This record gives sequence, C-alpha cells and structure tokens, in this order.
Amino acid sequence: MSGPILAIESSCDDSCAAVLGGDGVVLSNIISSQGIHNRYGGVVPEIAARQHLQLLTPAIEAALSQAQVTLADLDRVAVTQGPGLIGALLVGVAQAKAIAAARGLPLVAVDHLQGHVAANFIGLEPFEPPFICLIASGGHTLLARVEDHSSYLLLGETLDDAAGEAFDKGARMLGLPFPGGPALQALAADGDDESFQFPVARNVEGCNFSFAGVKTSLLYAIRDLGEEEAEARRADLAASYQKAIVDALVERLTKALDASGLDRVAIGGGVAANGLLRSRITALGAVCHIPEISLCTDNAAMIASAARYLDDCSPQQALTLDAYPSGTRR
Ligand code: KG4
Ligand code: ZN
Repeated sequence: MSGPILAIESSCDDSCAAVLGGDGVVLSNIISSQGIHNRYGGVVPEIAARQHLQLLTPAIEAALSQAQVTLADLDRVAVTQGPGLIGALLVGVAQAKAIAAARGLPLVAVDHLQGHVAANFIGLEPFEPPFICLIASGGHTLLARVEDHSSYLLLGETLDDAAGEAFDKGARMLGLPFPGGPALQALAADGDDESFQFPVARNVEGCNFSFAGVKTSLLYAIRDLGEEEAEARRADLAASYQKAIVDALVERLTKALDASGLDRVAIGGGVAANGLLRSRITALGAVCHIPEISLCTDNAAMIASAARYLDDCSPQQALTLDAYPSGTRR
C-alpha cells in the first residue's frame, strides 16, 4: 500500500485541502468556503482567486495537522487542473507545483469531474465500476458510464444551464441567498410540489439535459402571480420548481440505466446533496451509492481519490503544468 496523498481543490469558491491515506480512507478534508460571494449573489471569479491566495495555505496546514502527517510523510501531491475558474485553478496549481518541487514529490493533475466520480471510491468499501454516474453541480450536469477507476464515458450533458445553476437562479428569483440549492430545498420543505407544473425538458436528444425552460417558467409564474401572491406562495413555488429539476435528473438517469443494461448508480456534485434527489435515486431499486454530503459538494478528498488511480506527471510536466478552464483532462 502506498502512503498518504495531499490534494488541493480550488476550481471555484471553496478553498479545499485533504489528506487521503493510501488505503483510500479520508484522514482530513478541509473546506474553507468563501462566504464573501453571498453579497454579490454569485461567485465573482477575481475575488475567488484572491480568496484562495489567503485561504489555501491555512487549509493545507489544517489538512496536514488534522491528518497528523507532515510533508515528509506524503507519497504524492494532487491538484485539480480543470475545468473551473481559471484564476482560481491557477492558485491551487501553483501551490501544488511548489510543494511537489520543494519536497521532490510526484505531482498528479486531476480533472474536477473525474474527482466527483472518484468521490464514490473513497473509503474502505469503495463502490466498484461498472456503474452509471450522475454528476450535477453548479457548473456541470452530466451522465457518465464508469467502467474503470480512472476515466468515464460521457453519455449526456446539459445543453444550457447546469442543474445547480438552475437551483441558484431559481433561488435568487425567490429572494433566497446564494448558493441557492440548500436554501431552496429548505423553503420547499414547507410547500406543495404539485401546486405548479413546471416543465421537464423531454425533447432534448439522448441523455442530454436542458434547464433553461424550467428557469424561464418560474420567472413567468412569479410575474403572473404578482408580487404579493408570489410572496405568499414562495414555498409552493420552491417545491414545484425543485420537483421539476429532480424529475429531469431522475428521468434521464433512468433512461441511461435502461440503455446501459446496468443496475448500479452513483452520484456526485453539489446537487447530489439535495434530499429529494437522494431519496428518489435510492427509490429507483438499483444498487446505488450516495456519498456523504461533504464528499458531494466540492472537496479535495475526491481529488485525492481520483489521483490514487492516475499516473504522476513527468518531472517536466510537473514544472510546466497549466490549468484549463473548460473541457476535460489534457
Ligand atoms: O459541486 P459543487 O459544490 O460546486 C461546483 O463544482 O459547481 O456544486 C455547487 C452547486 C450549487 O449550485 C449549489 O446550489 C448546489 O450545488 N447545491 C444544491 C444543494 N446543495 C448544494 N442544490 C440543491 N440542493 C442542495 N441541497
Ligand atoms: Zn464540483
């Protein structure tokens, strides 16, 4: 068995560092959320990058000390290379390169989405491929067929907004704070999800998703109700809106499962923290793996988990490693 991996994740607005033991067990998983973005109603990329400059070093120190290891005990250093906000990613990549170079440690570059998939491999009882994986976050929504520990086959993705983005934008329309997903879920708990019929995009091809329509129909519903009535029915609006998004995710997941002939499902990404989605997936009847919430939202333990199954960069690559804002691993 190899030694511990230190991982850094800074693709968006969470400054994350974690140490994963060589056996895949989480020794520490530090997530410093940059609360500062709440006041702007969304993540401001330049502010996120500057916040990482302040928060990443303390997060790394906390991850090492909580795991009771020092840099001398590490086997490898892993970092999210992309996709994400380029300035934010570059801060993490620079930190990881510096630690690896200074300590003579191998560096592993990890794709953020592969990280969300690999959250399912954490722990002493990892969920083994093959399975269908739904990744739904603020920036991505995709369905993947996972056949091994180091890659996935893309079955479908969103053609417009991500599911988390739909939650965030809907929450904003309902006067809820950013990030909107958890707040909208809480408001929905007091509402009737049959009150409004928001559309589920079924005319998109294959296993792709579209969330632009549901967002627009919430906007129109609020406008048609008028200010006072919309305020009185916020919980019903939230419950119906949440149901439409979850229906869309579960329908496509079911379609992907049927087409694949597999009966194993895993999920990841911030939206996988949603209670309704979690219970609907559990109820599918397939063998399912639902990581704990702190491993669904952005975290560095999932990056370390992905790194366990990836090759190190060559010494030359480690020195010249660059981040990428979109697309997949290079
Ligand atoms: O994976 P993640 O932490 O960051 C990205 O890579 O984007 O996902 C963040 C997204 C946000 O859009 C947030 O509103 C959503 O996940 N989210 C939720 C819940 N918790 C977080 N959406 C619905 N219900 C939740 N409980
Ligand atoms: Zn993410």
